[in-house]
Amino acid sequence: MQDKKKKIVFSGVQPTGALHLGNYLGAIKNFVDLQEDHDCLYCIVDLHAVTVWQNPNDLKSNILDVASIYLASGIDPKKSTIFVQSTVPYHSELSWILNCVTRIGWLNRMTQFKEKAGKNRENVSSGLYTYPNLMAADILLYFSDLVPVGDDQKQHLELTRDIAQKFNNDYSDFGGKDFFPIPNPIIMDESSRVMSLRDGTKKMSKSDPSAMSRIEFKDSNDLIVKKISKAKTDPLPIPNNVNDLETRPEVHNLISIFSSLAGLKITTVLNDYSGKQFSEFKKDLSDLLIENIEPIRDELIRLDNDHSFLLDILEKGTNEAMKRSSLNMKKIRDIVGLGY
Ligand code: TYM
Repeated sequence: MQDKKKKIVFSGVQPTGALHLGNYLGAIKNFVDLQEDHDCLYCIVDLHAVTVWQNPNDLKSNILDVASIYLASGIDPKKSTIFVQSTVPYHSELSWILNCVTRIGWLNRMTQFKEKAGKNRENVSSGLYTYPNLMAADILLYFSDLVPVGDDQKQHLELTRDIAQKFNNDYSDFGGKDFFPIPNPIIMDESSRVMSLRDGTKKMSKSDPSAMSRIEFKDSNDLIVKKISKAKTDPLPIPNNVNDLETRPEVHNLISIFSSLAGLKITTVLNDYSGKQFSEFKKDLSDLLIENIEPIRDELIRLDNDHSFLLDILEKGTNEAMKRSSLNMKKIRDIVGLGY
């Protein structure tokens, strides 16, 4: 429920495949913590998903999977608004207006577009190119103050801030002065960039062809143990100082995962394990992962059999998001001079 005194938090996750530990530690775990004293909106961004072709049946089931993961991870629909982006048409409408505010030169700098498009630049959808404008629309539509995300979204957040500033300037004589709050990202230190278990220089990602590179929410305890025992390390023992991690990306990653799951500083974890063998550390890391993932997995299985509960929450979320965004969109149209 909207509460004037609380800061507004907005974030989203794409329903494009099995979510993993990176999504959890980089984003969803923060969503849960923030709902205690913020006014939070958590979105399932299906319009972003279709910037790359999706099988429609898979997309529909992935949307419900993300909703289940939100709930199973501890997002409480009594405290936060959970909804699906495409059910609130104002996201698309504002995104069009922002397409007309954002400069092409700004979009050309987006590294995620360059990475995703690769050499195929002429052949990817124009939606992939304007994707950050839709993301800015998501955030600005609710006058959000804070946006919890992983490190890979930082540049999109900077762009959102530029877009908000330009809109406020362009329309300053027409009610736009200080209109959009300039949103701040919340990026966690230890877990802002969880890396692949097979290659510590690559981000843990849904699109990695090897499922051994990531821990997924539905992994069994045995599979978690297997993935961690096979996770790449190096022949040296665990170091005792943080600087030594810089040249050891796989070890750095496992220590960071441990520290963020245990809520400990990296230095504390190194103090506890320095000089020890990886077999002992990996056993404790697997236990810690299981302790965190098992209750979420059990709840996911329960929710799989309770779709009506899930649909009810999403419908209520849409109603709340519609109520808030329709008022805001009316003000935006007025400022821009749209309609009559
Ligand atoms: P998406 O769906 O790719 O990822 C969802 C969230 O998970 C974070 N994340 C990671 N964090 C740490 N380590 C990793 N390996 C890792 N992989 C993913 C992402 O940073 C993200 O926070 N564009 C967004 C979705 C979006 C959005 C928004 C986010 C659309 N509109 C408005 C915030 C506000 C995306 O593709 O996230």
